[in-house]
Amino acid sequence: MKIPPEDLRKYKLIPVVSSVAAELGIRLYLVGGPVRDMLLGKETLDYDFVVIGDLRSMAFSVAERLGVGRNDVTFSKFLTASVRYRGISIDFAHARVEEYPSPAALPVVRPCYSIEEDLGRRDFTINAMAVDLSKEGFGTLIDIFGGLEDLKDGVIRVLHAGSFRDDPTRGFRAVRYAKRFGFRYSDETLSEFDNARNYMGLVSFVRVKNELVRSSVEERRVEMFIDFSRFRLIYGMQAPEHAIRRLDVLLDGRDRSHWLPFYLLFVANSADKTEVLRDQMTRKEKNAIMSLLLALELPMNAELSEIHGVLRNAPEETLLALAALRGGNCELYLRRRPLAVTALKGDDLIKLGVPRGQAIQRMLKLIEVERLNGRIKTLQDEIQFVKSQLSRNDEPTSNS
Ligand code: CTP
Repeated sequence: MKIPPEDLRKYKLIPVVSSVAAELGIRLYLVGGPVRDMLLGKETLDYDFVVIGDLRSMAFSVAERLGVGRNDVTFSKFLTASVRYRGISIDFAHARVEEYPSPAALPVVRPCYSIEEDLGRRDFTINAMAVDLSKEGFGTLIDIFGGLEDLKDGVIRVLHAGSFRDDPTRGFRAVRYAKRFGFRYSDETLSEFDNARNYMGLVSFVRVKNELVRSSVEERRVEMFIDFSRFRLIYGMQAPEHAIRRLDVLLDGRDRSHWLPFYLLFVANSADKTEVLRDQMTRKEKNAIMSLLLALELPMNAELSEIHGVLRNAPEETLLALAALRGGNCELYLRRRPLAVTALKGDDLIKLGVPRGQAIQRMLKLIEVERLNGRIKTLQDEIQFVKSQLSRNDEPTSNS
């Protein structure tokens, strides 16, 4: 099958890149996501090219043709090059094959000299198509695995058994494509999910996080997280469906990069709480997890003051996850915690007669709880409150 040249010309950089390839005698193909999206009639922002020939000359010549400096050209040890141009990234890779030295390990790559071999290392049939952009075969679709048919039938199909053992993160990718396009999993893909779950423990947290970040910006992220739970892709953990849906509602209007509260829903449900902290987690991520575990010890009908006692300094992500899991006062606390900021500071309290030392902290917490409960709203209210506390006791006692 040939892609009509007018369809290819819609992608403004294709004529530029293909004429550079022709001049240099390099074979050039458009591959993967952009081919899939083009066949689906969707706009594509990515340009993924495979070359057979001199990758360095190709990348530098394209940069030169586009008037981009050499600093905007980067190379990796995985035989790839990238040209940054007006906010988009034009990605080139030399045709390559991958070997996985052990399950879930990063692949060892070596160059190959046929596009068919390169396509064979890919994840799903719909991502394993290429369009020839060389002069001789311009526009020819190369589809050796039945990708076009699967695209028409709406199927996510792995290329070979063991695909998710080689790379368990493909489990996340399968879900992402299935939900993004409204496709179903083929039987071959369904059986691979066991491999993804069984070998995910060998995948670093940073790689898993990268998949969650990419998923949380998707429009149908709720369905995606539900399937991550169904297939237990996140280190074997599951999350309640109602909480996933509720969290998405609570996040409405915020930027869509929030993956951490979704992750916390899974942690909350994890059978083995000693396993939830992982290497490579940031301090904030660990903090969010530890504070959530503490908050989950609270009774279901905990008062705002009790919740505040545990989550006073917790990251907002913890509050979001807890609110999604428990609703009620936990949701109220999510909304009200921003109010729990005192106008009076330690020095002011000393001036008002609060004794130095622990009494200051105790008084501040009391004021915060009054603010949470809506009993204090202004600086004047705070001063009044402090005075009444001082007149009741010599030193404030916790009555929350
Ligand atoms: N790929 C793969 N296995 C992976 C990651 C990527 O086989 N674990 C291949 C696929 O052929 C994919 C291509 O590399 O199409 C580029 O990867 P990526 O940019 O992540 O995927 P896109 O298909 O461009 O996806 P998206 O639309 O989500 O950006």
